[in-house]
Amino acid sequence: MSVPGDQTIHSGPPPPVRRIVVSEEPTIVEPPRLDPTAPAAAVTGAPLTRRSDSLPASAIVERMRTENLRLYYGDNEAVKGVSLPVCRGEVLALIGPSGCGKTTLLRSLNRLTELTATARREGQIFLDNEDVDRIEVTQLRRRVSMVFQQPNPFPMSVFDNVAYALREGANRKPRKSALMEPVRQALDRAGLLAEVESNLDHPALRLSGGQQQRLCIARSLAAQPEVLLLDEPCSALDPKSTETIEQLIVKLRSEVAVVIVTHNLQQARRIADKVGFMYLGDLVEFGDGEQLFSNPREARTADYVAGSFG
Ligand SMILES: Nc1ncnc2c1ncn2[C@@H]1O[C@H](COP(=O)(O)OP(=O)(O)O)[C@@H](O)[C@H]1O
Ligand SMILES: [Mg+2]
Repeated sequence: MSVPGDQTIHSGPPPPVRRIVVSEEPTIVEPPRLDPTAPAAAVTGAPLTRRSDSLPASAIVERMRTENLRLYYGDNEAVKGVSLPVCRGEVLALIGPSGCGKTTLLRSLNRLTELTATARREGQIFLDNEDVDRIEVTQLRRRVSMVFQQPNPFPMSVFDNVAYALREGANRKPRKSALMEPVRQALDRAGLLAEVESNLDHPALRLSGGQQQRLCIARSLAAQPEVLLLDEPCSALDPKSTETIEQLIVKLRSEVAVVIVTHNLQQARRIADKVGFMYLGDLVEFGDGEQLFSNPREARTADYVAGSFG
């Protein structure tokens, strides 16, 4: 029995076939066995310059802490008993292959995981030694602010995007003139002011991707957060915008505790003071950025930073 369309499938010339002729059996090459004490070779694609030196110990203040934090989606345990500190004065980068719980951990810090119906949390999270469950959730999200992977400015002017956070936080509706200075300040901290100050009424959605992301950072900063969470903030951006945002993150860390999720190891190495390597929900290794990359304690970390998997 013929199938409808049979004719058209079999008419015409046969599909091209590419044949590769080999004179000998190919040799199977073993993946390199890595010496965990060797420097992380594969991370050094481009010259790696750390843009910052550590801040003095007196500038480093613990702001948040997780204790034996576990997150489940139904039966799937996405974060498996993670304890770590988040400090002002330091950039903390969470690295690891995708699906290992980085975003879930990050979102739990301001209780965004509660928006997912199947998500359940065990263990504790503290902000300045106060259990985050005891902090009113909009207050918590103002103090611990999230910037997402895709820039998500509101469909309004540059000015109104930043003013939004200020208007929302105010008891009485402030006049535009009263908001001008704090809006400009937030744009300045986000490294965007010079590019937009000639026309703050410009529609935010007409900015470039890199500008939109800095606008989202400015919108977060306007509410004076104490902790800034960034989930792969540069993954949709060009190298120049990425560099601008990296410099901004390093600068911000003296005022705001910064946690960044990144799959870009060079980026983590450039900007992070502390690095947590996550694998299948476990925090495999946590430590000083330079040490973790150049002299990891765990074999799994060594393999990952050397580019063996991920
Ligand atoms: N909203 C969700 N509902 C159900 N499972 C999820 C959800 N978000 C993430 N997961 C699962 O949780 C695990 C960790 O995911 P995620 O935190 O997004 O990892 P990463 O950010 O490291 O890529 C994965 O197994 C993922 O499939
Ligand atoms: Mg993620």
